[in-house]
Amino acid sequence: MKKKLDKNLEKYFMPDLKKARKRIEKEIETVRYNLENKYENIGNGKTYSVLTYGCQGNEADSEIISGILESLGYEKGTTTDENDVVIINTCAVRENAENKIWGVLGRLKQAKRNNPDMIIGICGCMPQEENVVNTLLEKYHQIDIVFGTHNINNLPRIIYDTYMSKDKVIEVLSTEGKIVENMPKKRANKHRAWVNIMYGCDEFCTYCIVPYTRGKERSRDKDDVINEVKSLVSEGYVEVTLLGQNVNAYGKDLDNGYTFGDLLVDLDKTGIKRIRYTTSHPRDLDDKTIQAMATCKSVMPHIHLPVQSGNDEVLKRMNRKYTKDEYLVLIEKLKKAIPGIAITTDIIVAFPGETQEQFQDTLELVDEVKFDGAFTFIYSPREGTPASKYENLLTEEEKHARLNELVEHTNRFYKEGNERFVGKVVEVLVDEEAKEPGMVCGYSEHFKLVNFVGDKSLIGSLVKVRITEAKTWFVKGELVE
Ligand code: 5AD
Ligand code: SF4
Repeated sequence: MKKKLDKNLEKYFMPDLKKARKRIEKEIETVRYNLENKYENIGNGKTYSVLTYGCQGNEADSEIISGILESLGYEKGTTTDENDVVIINTCAVRENAENKIWGVLGRLKQAKRNNPDMIIGICGCMPQEENVVNTLLEKYHQIDIVFGTHNINNLPRIIYDTYMSKDKVIEVLSTEGKIVENMPKKRANKHRAWVNIMYGCDEFCTYCIVPYTRGKERSRDKDDVINEVKSLVSEGYVEVTLLGQNVNAYGKDLDNGYTFGDLLVDLDKTGIKRIRYTTSHPRDLDDKTIQAMATCKSVMPHIHLPVQSGNDEVLKRMNRKYTKDEYLVLIEKLKKAIPGIAITTDIIVAFPGETQEQFQDTLELVDEVKFDGAFTFIYSPREGTPASKYENLLTEEEKHARLNELVEHTNRFYKEGNERFVGKVVEVLVDEEAKEPGMVCGYSEHFKLVNFVGDKSLIGSLVKVRITEAKTWFVKGELVE
């Protein structure tokens, strides 16, 4: 099947970042997914793969994409590239995430040469950017379908249209649509599940592209979330991770007084053994949530609370809406309410204008909080965001030097955070076989990766393990009979 390259953009739905920035006060409707009969068998006898990059939100979306493809008759292929449909679910949060994707697209050129009927699709956050879709049209002619974060539910029609028209289909919506419930899902794991509780982000941190690519904050109805978790319990799931760009803002758009802390309390009653959530924004983390973490047995004693910087001036220019002291007060509250809580974070270095002194404030904060783990990043300019216009005088060497210094500090506390469990008995949800033969691994309540001698029949169960040794990135232990 030969796809024409048409420069007539009128027929495409192209992204528009300016439109995506707008926040319109409107009720977000919830609708139920419904597959039209005519699409049902278009994948019969064909295979698919979904390549996923980026955050857990994308992993959850890819489970829906896989679910939809299987509902059309496609079967999961045994290779990543040699399939009738290959969908690449992309991340736009930093330039190096995007560069990876351009590399994958280059690689798929060959697969398409081998099989010209193959459909290559690209979706997720990258296509929400105008410059990306323009580059796709100019240079990546092997792409057949382009869709975004707001219209995964239309995938059956998009695939059907590209088959029928023998043409590319580009359909990226710049503003969020309705919340679509009941989409099919092919979950990647049998005992741990992602559960979206809200979509979008209204924070507009000045460096971040996400509020543009994922639209305004929309919370799912609490009953839809609770019913999803109840059915996961009945299917034998042990752990759920509640997902949202800023889960602490859950419910604020619904104006019914029911917020994230209430949801935790209700989910605790469903019988699910473990609840985790990500990601939190310090500004929206309220006492009700901390209280729920302290009292609900199933809510795990771990929080990922991105701080981004330890300097007030930088935080202000990042539009984070809290100060270093306010962050530290939150940490104290968490440590007091949930003794032993594990705290992890995200930190950006070399934000435009960050001085050496301001960077030192970040190091001091890291030393003070002693994070159990941190994702550390060099600031990456994202076109269309306010910070991309700020002047950044640092050289690449200086940026990397800051990152290296920061990582030296954060790494010190990884090991300390692990050492505090040596001699203690923890509960582990066994995830998979470990790299070392005869060993299995999984996460403890505090999100510590635990390796121990055990049979793979334990995978999916909760077991008690005594920790015997702390390494930097994981701990070792032995099964307690
Ligand atoms: N540059 C570097 N890091 C970024 N993040 C988000 N946007 C950028 C950017 N432009 C980081 C933040 C966020 C995490 C998911 O990615 O630390 O918390
Ligand atoms: Fe991006 Fe800030 Fe929203 Fe997180 S809270 S997704 S960093 S804008």
